[in-house]
Amino acid sequence: MKHRVAIVTGARRGLGEAICYQLAKDGYDIVVNDMVGKEQVDKVVKYIEDNYSVSAIGVMADVSHEDQVLKLLDIVKSRFSRVDVLVNNAAIVEDMEIEERSTDLFNNTIRNNVTSTYLMSKYIGREMFQNKHGKIINISSTNGMNAFFPTSIDYDASKAAVISLTHNFALEYAPYVLVNSIAPGWINTEMNKQLPEELIKEETDKIYLKRFAEVDEVAAFVSFLASDVCSYLNGEVIKLDGGY
Ligand SMILES: NC(=O)c1ccc[n+]([C@@H]2O[C@H](COP(=O)([O-])OP(=O)(O)OC[C@H]3O[C@@H](n4cnc5c(N)ncnc54)[C@H](O)[C@@H]3O)[C@@H](O)[C@H]2O)c1
Repeated sequence: MKHRVAIVTGARRGLGEAICYQLAKDGYDIVVNDMVGKEQVDKVVKYIEDNYSVSAIGVMADVSHEDQVLKLLDIVKSRFSRVDVLVNNAAIVEDMEIEERSTDLFNNTIRNNVTSTYLMSKYIGREMFQNKHGKIINISSTNGMNAFFPTSIDYDASKAAVISLTHNFALEYAPYVLVNSIAPGWINTEMNKQLPEELIKEETDKIYLKRFAEVDEVAAFVSFLASDVCSYLNGEVIKLDGGY
């Protein structure tokens, strides 16, 4: 029996890696993408093949570049006959004062985080539309809904744009492709490991549940959005921040 197929971008570590394992557990064949860390990507692929009864491939690509997205699509199509789920998880963040941030750095974050989601949704979504079936799940952030620290102004703007892409692609690929977004608050990942301890403590105090989310808790929600049970939620943004 052929499995359904899921692509997860930015999946060598952190939330993307957890999403790969969750979807593999759900029975999807997995395309593990990242732009760096081939060894880590290979490890994720191996872990999936060793622990779940599905196939996995790693595809190194910077998905904010059109030529690389098209190559990824060719590889995926040569290996699998269809794509059922796309998780746009890849993103970068680099906090600094607005005064210090160059225009190039600002533009780079926007290009990396927004263009990647746009290109992947455009090309993979088109395949899904033609197959009359698919789910696109965009990982945004509560930073895209509110301002907390202007030191991440570029990241915040990129995550707000991801929400807008969610609305537009839900409309573009209706009625066959459901496009939704998750906006997590703080998650316990590598991305936050370098933050000052004091800041982590202050932020933890503001969360009703008094802890950052674990990656599995966010991945479980991706699993729901990808599943057939989720058949009427579309163009939506779900905040997953433990109360804040
Ligand atoms: N960690 C948090 O607190 C938090 C909170 C809210 C939202 N998020 C979002 O969750 C997602 C995952 O975050 P994480 O904490 O696991 O981050 P992470 O830095 O651990 O992982 C992100 C991965 O994406 C990859 N990547 C970035 N740009 C790429 C591109 N153009 N092409 C291919 N790969 C690319 C990176 O190499 C990295 O491996 C991101 O979208 C992030 O914005 C994280």
